[in-house]
Amino acid sequence: MKQSKYTAKQPDAQGYINYSAQEDAVWAELYQRQWPIIQNRACDAYLRGLELLELSTHKVPQCAEVSSRLREFTGWQVVPVAALISFEEFFALLAEKKFPAASFIRTREDMDYLPEPDIFHEIFGHCPLLTDTTYANFMHEYGKIGHGASAKDKVYLARLFWFTIEFGLLQQANKLSIYGAGILSSQEETIYALESDVPLRKPFEIIDVLRTPYRYDIKQQTYFVIQSFDELYQLTQHDLLGIIAEVKPLGLYPAQHAGEAASDKLKGC
Ligand SMILES: [Fe+2]
Repeated sequence: MKQSKYTAKQPDAQGYINYSAQEDAVWAELYQRQWPIIQNRACDAYLRGLELLELSTHKVPQCAEVSSRLREFTGWQVVPVAALISFEEFFALLAEKKFPAASFIRTREDMDYLPEPDIFHEIFGHCPLLTDTTYANFMHEYGKIGHGASAKDKVYLARLFWFTIEFGLLQQANKLSIYGAGILSSQEETIYALESDVPLRKPFEIIDVLRTPYRYDIKQQTYFVIQSFDELYQLTQHDLLGIIAEVKPLGLYPAQHAGEAASDKLKGC
């Protein structure tokens, strides 16, 4: 795994992390600038989840507190981890309905972009949808499949994660909307993903997804559009590892941009 310039913040015996006033101010600013732009762009389930979680707007929320809310709705928890974790640890946690969260928060120099997840991305981006039953069930089943998968299959599963949980779009009845956490925690990409004419927006097709290279260090070139979270859940109820076995000999599509094929790292998401 690549190195992070940030170090994880360690929870105390009660599971609480001490954030400084400066770090709380970074959270407050990120929250305040992101909230208005997601209103007409995030999917309804995300906005509902954000309301249900009652996240603090002015200080970094504690994973323990977010977990106690999540448990009421879907039995999920969010647990602090180092900035970047192995595939092994990642899937093992998801299989136990524990979402791994990088515990540090970005500094002021990285307000607009950082190539790795921080606590704003993890809590604001990922946690609201973990209140949604179908979405949460997909994550759990996905985690269990990944936990038992070979190292090579985990890489394919990580690509599925990338194009759904991180950078997925959802077609709602009246409009295209965002559910991917990588988009919803980025001011620039929230607007770009829906409104720019640069990226491709393709219907979600599992073989296509598994063959598409991606980059974590630029805005996405391709987004896949699902029709419902049940479409994702159904993938886990069929032979997902069998589909991966079919895809392997086909290989990845050619990279649209230099470096894409080499970027298959989980990025600790
Ligand atoms: Fe993530």
